[in-house]
Amino acid sequence: MPEIRVGEVCIQAEVGDNMLDTLLAAGQRVPWSCRAGQCQTCLVQALDGPVPAQAITGLAPEQRQAGWLLACQCPLAGDMRLKLHDPAHDGLGARIVDMQVTGKNVLLLQLKPDRPIRFQPGQHMVVWLDSELGRPYSIASQASDTDLRFHLRIHAGGAFSEKIQTMEPGHRVYLGAPGGHFHYDPDWQDKPLLLLAAGTGLAPLQAIARHALASGHQARIELRHWYDGDECYLDQELRDLAAAHATLILHLRPRAELAADLTQLRLASRSTLALVCGPPAFVEQIRKPLFMAGLPGRQIIDEAFLSRQA
Ligand SMILES: Cc1cc2nc3c(=O)[nH]c(=O)nc-3n(C[C@H](O)[C@H](O)[C@H](O)COP(=O)(O)OP(=O)(O)OC[C@H]3O[C@@H](n4cnc5c(N)ncnc54)[C@H](O)[C@@H]3O)c2cc1C
Ligand code: FES
Repeated sequence: MPEIRVGEVCIQAEVGDNMLDTLLAAGQRVPWSCRAGQCQTCLVQALDGPVPAQAITGLAPEQRQAGWLLACQCPLAGDMRLKLHDPAHDGLGARIVDMQVTGKNVLLLQLKPDRPIRFQPGQHMVVWLDSELGRPYSIASQASDTDLRFHLRIHAGGAFSEKIQTMEPGHRVYLGAPGGHFHYDPDWQDKPLLLLAAGTGLAPLQAIARHALASGHQARIELRHWYDGDECYLDQELRDLAAAHATLILHLRPRAELAADLTQLRLASRSTLALVCGPPAFVEQIRKPLFMAGLPGRQIIDEAFLSRQA
């Protein structure tokens, strides 16, 4: 029977019990969001004890070395001593520079981190508003920008959505480590890219398109965005970008046209790579039309914006 120690607290568990569930049931205040090993909101530090491989999948080597693990992915295998994550101590401080609400319920957030950080445009990080309220968001800016930019969908009743709107420029927040597989790979230079986004799924995909263009991507880049509301919230910016790059083809379409558009989906080439991002239902909906258009699964890279309740 594994014994889990958090400071002075000792918790009895069964082999195979999920660490996050065990800690929450014992009254420990462990934040969580996706419960799918994707977002890094549920980080916990193992001071000793067995750490199963699946609990560190996707973490950076430095995080693994320091003993961090994802509690939601950790089946308990033996006695452990744990330290809970404290964003103010373990994360990177940043301050809000600007917030603009645009389009239909999209908040454009600009943060200045206390020091520059290394990331790939399109990766994600947890933004913490306090020690308990953090959510994963995709990085919409380029690595050369001094500020970090995010596109946040405002969810009615959403804890993060509501709280951030009460904050002012200058307010301090904390950032987790950048992570995730969603970014441009220089090996893709000659492959046509088909970037498919719904809602704020545009955040990582427009960042990846910009990164590809700045890296001298040779083949065509087709960016399709299905927006909520009257127009794409980056309409003019994207049109300016396409005007400056003949290889960038834009399709900015209302969300209501998605089903009809998918029946018309055609590939520019068999070597096309498709990157898909948005709400989970959208990512699910796109798979079959891509397959029907002749794209093998290994040429589809997707990221679903899982929510806390999903
Ligand atoms: C890797 C990753 C990257 C992400 N990047 C972004 C991003 O760049 N921009 C962005 O806007 N979101 C992104 N998300 C999703 C975002 O983290 C969640 O939507 C988050 O739960 C919102 O927090 P909240 O506190 O406002 O709402 P919550 O309190 O978490 O949820 C409140 C209610 O809002 C609804 N809801 C919340 N999120 C979603 C969703 N994604 N789809 C459908 N309904 C939802 C649900 O009904 C839920 O019950 C990302 C998620 C992941 C896993
Ligand atoms: S990775 Fe554990 S809650 Fe998201």
